Amino acid sequence: MKARNLMFCAALATLSLASCTNKEIYKDVEARVDSLLSKMTLDEKLGQMNQLSPWNFDELAEKVRKGEVGSILNYTDPELVNKIQKVAVEESRLGIPLIVARDVIHGYKTIFPIPLGQAATFNPEIVERGARVAALEATSDGIRWTFAPMIDISRDARWGRIAESCGEDPYLTSVMGAAMVKGFQGDSLDNPTSMVACAKHFVAYGAAEGGQDYNSTFVPERTLRNVYLPPFKAAAEAGCATFMTSFNDNDGVPGTANRFVLKDILRDEWKFDGMVVTDWNSAGEMISHGFCTDGKDAAEKSVNAGVDMDMVSETFIKNLKLSVDEGKVSMQAIDNAVRNILRLKFRMGLFEHPYVDVPSVPVKYAETHLQAAKEAAEQSVILMKNDSRTLPFTDKMRTLLVTGPMADAPYEQLGTWIFDGEQEHTQTPLKAIKEMYGDKVNVVYEPGLGYSRDKSLNGIAKAVNAARRADAVVVLVGEEAVLSGEGHSLANLELQGAQRQLVKALAATGKPLVTIVMAGRPLVIAEEAEASDALLYSFHPGTMGGPAIADILFGKVNPSAKTPLTFPRMSGQVPVYYAHNNTGRPAKPDEMLIDDIPVGAGQTSVGGRSFYLDAGAKPLYPFGYGLSYTSFEYSDLKLSSDTFGPEDEITATVELRNAGRYDGTEVVQLYVQDKVGSVTRPVKELKAFRRIFLKAGESTAVSFTLPVSELAFWGYDMRYKVEPGDFKLWVGTNSAEGLSADFAVSVR
Ligand code: BGC
Repeated sequence: MKARNLMFCAALATLSLASCTNKEIYKDVEARVDSLLSKMTLDEKLGQMNQLSPWNFDELAEKVRKGEVGSILNYTDPELVNKIQKVAVEESRLGIPLIVARDVIHGYKTIFPIPLGQAATFNPEIVERGARVAALEATSDGIRWTFAPMIDISRDARWGRIAESCGEDPYLTSVMGAAMVKGFQGDSLDNPTSMVACAKHFVAYGAAEGGQDYNSTFVPERTLRNVYLPPFKAAAEAGCATFMTSFNDNDGVPGTANRFVLKDILRDEWKFDGMVVTDWNSAGEMISHGFCTDGKDAAEKSVNAGVDMDMVSETFIKNLKLSVDEGKVSMQAIDNAVRNILRLKFRMGLFEHPYVDVPSVPVKYAETHLQAAKEAAEQSVILMKNDSRTLPFTDKMRTLLVTGPMADAPYEQLGTWIFDGEQEHTQTPLKAIKEMYGDKVNVVYEPGLGYSRDKSLNGIAKAVNAARRADAVVVLVGEEAVLSGEGHSLANLELQGAQRQLVKALAATGKPLVTIVMAGRPLVIAEEAEASDALLYSFHPGTMGGPAIADILFGKVNPSAKTPLTFPRMSGQVPVYYAHNNTGRPAKPDEMLIDDIPVGAGQTSVGGRSFYLDAGAKPLYPFGYGLSYTSFEYSDLKLSSDTFGPEDEITATVELRNAGRYDGTEVVQLYVQDKVGSVTRPVKELKAFRRIFLKAGESTAVSFTLPVSELAFWGYDMRYKVEPGDFKLWVGTNSAEGLSADFAVSVR
C-alpha cells in the first residue's frame, strides 16, 4: 500500500506540486527506512556505512555480495556500474543498492571554469546551469553522487584548494554554493539525472594555517558562525543531501570527530536529515593527528561525533562491531547513521531505479553543454586593466602575436580536479583566435616558454622578434593546473619560471601588450600589470576558455566578471580580504612606504598604523573589482528611510548609467557596515548583488530590498541577532568604491 502511495505521489508530483508534498513522500520514506532497518544485522548496518574506492572488480563484488559496502566511488564505466549494482541488488541478502560517487567538481566531460572562475561571474543562473550540465553528463555514466560544492571560505591564495572554492566572501559563496546544489540535484533527487551534492569540507578547512594544505586551523566559534558556516547553512537550506567532514583539526579537534559542528550545529540547530561522509581516509588520519590511538578509536570518535559513512579508511567496518559489544558506540548511534544512509537511497529512488540507462543520444560534450561552458567562461574572465582602450582589438589590426606558455596548453587550462575531462576537446586561445578571427588577422604564434615553470630564456628572443613585427601582442601566462588544487600549496605567489622576463621583454618592444593570466588562484602580478597595456585574468577557464577569450579580445563579448577575492600585491600580504575588522590603528590613505622613508628616520616618525611598509595597506585589486569595455556611472543613491525597525526591509535604489560606447553588463554590489557592535565588525560586508545589462547610453534605476534581519550576526553573547545602532551602506562597482548612505536600526 505504502509503495503504491509513493508511486502515486511521484506520478502526481509531475502533474501538480500542490497535491502531494515532499513531506508526504518523505513520511513514506521514513516508514520504508524503518522497515528495512528492522531486518538488518549489525554487520549489514556497518556495511552500509562503508564506502570503498575499488580497483579489483571481483574483490569488490565479493564484499558487495556479503553486504559489506554501502557506496563506491570512482567507477565511471556505466556497464561496470550496472554490473556491480546487479550484485548489490540481486545477490546481497537485502538487495540494497549502492550509491556510486565521483568528484565531479566543475564539469564531468565538458569542463566549466574552476569554481573560482564561476564565482567571478556573480551569476548564480550560469553556475546552476554548469552544475546541471555536469550532472547530465556524469549520471549518464551512472554517477549519482558528487563531492561538490566545495564552499570553504578561502582567504589565503597560498592554499592550492582556493581554486575549488568560490573565494573569500560568505555571502557570494552561499549564493554560488546553493546554485551548484540546485544544478547538481535538479528538481528531485529521484530523477535519474539528479546527482546528489555534497557540501564540503565541514568546516573551516580553508583557514589552513599558512595556507598549507591539511594544516591545523584556529577558528573560534564566533568566526566559525559568522564567516565559515553560512555557506554550509545555505547549502543545507537549498536541499544539499550530504555533507563531508574536513581533514583539518580546528582548535585541536579534527573535523571528522567534531561533535559540536556535526551534531550540535548541523543536526540540532539546522535540522539536517541528510547524510554525512568522512573525507578520504580522514577517520584513519586522526591517528596521525595524534587524536586517536588506532582505527577502532577513530571509528568510535567519528560515529559518536555524528558521521554516517566512512570514505575508504575501513575503520568502521573493521572495528565497530566490537565497539558496540563493548558499549563504546550505542546501537542507536549506528541505527541513526544507517537511517541517514537509507533515507538518502530511498529519496534517490535507487530501490526503484538502481541501474543507469545509457542515453540513446550521447550527452557528453553536447553542443548546448559546450555553449553553456563558453558562456560561463566569457562571464568569468576579469578585465583588470585596459589603458588607452587597448582592448577590444579594432579592424586596424593586421598582425597579432600570440605567445606565452598558456596560449596553447589544452590540459592546463582545464584546471584542477578534472579526472574525466579530456584535453582533446579543449579549445585553447591560440586555436580559437586562429579559427574564429584568422580570416581578419594574421595570427603569429611563438610560445616563448614551453610551460609555466620553464626557466629557459631561449624562446624569449624569438617571441620578442615576432612582437616587433606585430601590431599587438597577446601573452598568456599563469600556472599549470597541477600548481593549484589539493595538496598543492605555494609559498611564493609570483609567476613561475621565466614568465616575468617574458612579459617584460615583450613590454620593452613598445607594442600594445595584452597579458592574460590563466591560473588556479590570484597570483601576485603587480609588475606584470604595470608592464601591460591591458590585463585579463582568467581562473582556469575549462574546455571552452579559448573561444571565450577570443571573443573578448575582439569585442564580441564585453567582460563583466568581478574578482571573488582580493588580489595581493605581495605574497607576504596574505591572508588579505576586504571584510576584515578595523584595528585600533587603521591605515591612512597616504601612508609613507619603504622607499620614501628617510635614512635614519626615528622609530615613531613613520608607520605606527596597520599596514606593511613594503606592500602598503591596499591590495592590488579589491574584492568585487573588474572593468568593462564601457564605463558605468552611479548616481543618486536613495534609501527608503534613514531609520528601520528589526522587522523592516531596507530599499536602496541607485541610478546606473552606461556612459561608454559599448553595451555591457555591470555587477552592482551592495555592502553594509555595522559601525559599532558588541564585538568588532567587518569594515564592509557584501549583502546583495545584481547583474544589470545596459545598452550604450542607457540608464536605469537599480533597486535592492534588504531585510533588516540580514544584518544579524553572532555577537558577544553568541546569539544571532541584529544589534540596533548606526550602519553605513554602499552601492557600487567593487568593494573599495561606491556611493554611500547612513541609516540606523532602532528597537521598536
Ligand atoms: C578530498 C575531497 C574529495 C575526496 C574524494 C579528498 O582527498 O579532500 O575533497 O572529495 O578526496 O576524492
